[in-house]
This record gives sequence, C-alpha cells and structure tokens, in this order.
Amino acid sequence: MSEKKIKKAVFPVAGMGTRFLPATKATPKEMLPIVDKPLIQYAVEEAMAAGITELVFVTSGSKRAIENHFDRNYELENQLRKQEKHELLEIVRAVVPKGISYIYVRQPQALGLGHAVLCARPVVGEEPFAVILADDLIDDGSDGCLNQMVRLFEAEGCSLLGVEEVDPAETRNYGIVSHEPLEGRLCRVRDIVEKPEPAQAPSNLAVVGRYILTPRIFDFLEKVGTGAGGEIQLTDAIAGLLQEEQILAYRFDGLRYDCGSKLGYLKATVEFALKHPKLQQPFRDYLQRFCVVKE
Ligand code: G1P
Repeated sequence: MSEKKIKKAVFPVAGMGTRFLPATKATPKEMLPIVDKPLIQYAVEEAMAAGITELVFVTSGSKRAIENHFDRNYELENQLRKQEKHELLEIVRAVVPKGISYIYVRQPQALGLGHAVLCARPVVGEEPFAVILADDLIDDGSDGCLNQMVRLFEAEGCSLLGVEEVDPAETRNYGIVSHEPLEGRLCRVRDIVEKPEPAQAPSNLAVVGRYILTPRIFDFLEKVGTGAGGEIQLTDAIAGLLQEEQILAYRFDGLRYDCGSKLGYLKATVEFALKHPKLQQPFRDYLQRFCVVKE
C-alpha cells in the first residue's frame, strides 16, 4: 500500500469550450464566473483544501487569462490600496496564496482528455496525483470532494474515481463504471467504458471530474490510441490500469453541477448566488417576485 501523500493536481484546461460559444471565443471557458469567481478558481481552491500544493495546468495558446489570474497583479493591488478598498485587496491577494506552485504545460494538439493528462507526465513523475475537471463544480458543504478522496487514498493506496448516479439516458456523456459494492460510499470498479449509449451502459454510475491516479496510468496513456470520439481517452487508460491494479469508485458527499452545459452552469449560478453572503437576500427577493409575476 502506498504511503505517499497527494501533492499534485492536474487541471486539463486546453479545451475549446465550444458549448459556450461565442462567450468562449476569446475567453477560456474555465474563466467563466459562477457569481464572482471563475470556475477554475473553485477547482483550485478545492485542491488546496485537500492539501495539494503543486497545481499543474495543461493549457493551450488561448488560455493566457488563466496564467494571469493565478499571478500577482501589482498595479491592481496598488490601486485598491490607494483607494483603501481593503476587502477587495484581500480577495485579490487570496487568489495566489503563499506556498503554492503554479505550473503550466502546453497541450500542443487537442487530442483528448487522456492526451492532456499525459502531457503532465514530465511534471508529475512517479507520484500519485489528482485530476480535476473544472467543468464539474462540486459544492461540498464543509468537506471538499477532493479532500474526501485524498483521505481515502491515504487509507486505501489505490486509484480512486469520483462517481455519482446519473439519469440512465445520460450515460453517453460520461465514463461509466461497472462495479461491486463495498462498504459505505465505496465500490470496486470492475470495468469502465467511455460514453456508452444507454442500451450498452453497464450501469448509471458515472465518473465525474475527480480522479486520483497512480503514476502507472501514464504507461497506459502512452499506448491506448484513440477511443470514443476519435480522442485519446483517460477512461480507456483506466480500463487498462484495472487489469493490474485495484481501482475504487467513491460516491462523494457533495452536489455536482455540470458547468460544461448551459443548464448546469445556470443552476450553479442561481444556487451559488442564493448562498452568497451579500446577494442571497436581494436575489431571493428578486426570484420570488420574478416567479410570482411569471406564473
Ligand atoms: C470527461 C471524461 C468522462 C467523464 C466526464 C466527467 O468527458 O472523458 O469520462 O465522465 O469528463 O465530466 P467530457 O465531459 O470532457 O466529454
């Protein structure tokens, strides 16, 4: 059993975000805000809350805004200081806390999620690591989803997939696992298949964008070749890894929003606004008036 701690998280952020065009023509989809914070910042905060200190972004030419976001902006900070906007200054500075490394690796071609993760190999090396897909925003109440998974990894020492049950009609959007139950929220993965049609799906237990993987996954990513959608799929490499290592699926405690879809993005926006300390009351009042008028 591995004694290792998870120190690194990989954020594949090179995708084109075509489902949000034209908004994502010049702006990375990961920079779209939920209320006042970009999606990628929620993902990064979840990683940091799990004790991760090295953040590896697999990026592309059109994603410079992400690098700028996770960097100091002295001009803005000086301006806020002069204007004595202390609260805003704190918010801006907190985006880049001390002790965290931000590492950028280019994915030269959009060859799929598996290829993106493989691009991080030289930085990750021979350590277990996390993968976070920022599109899947997880509201976890108190204990972050990745933190739950990191603690499980420390106990189990094997790869872990964050999963949830989805509408059986939706299996074609996810990696789907066949599994056998273990105790509590855990199950043992028997097989995994990328985006099966409902009739072929082995279950409706879907992998959402949280993974903890052992470094052996890279060897499988090197050799899987193209899979569903003509892309190099992380799911296919996980299926290979399963032949050698145990992999567990974990039904995390938390609510996931599919912010890769417009409907999921809107739901997250409304629900996060209803929890925002300054917005919740006026927004609730507005929604109540709006719904009454529209009924
Ligand atoms: C990716 C993975 C898929 C996973 C999903 C979670 O698909 O390929 O296995 O279930 O993320 O959001 P994508 O949403 O990038 O098409």
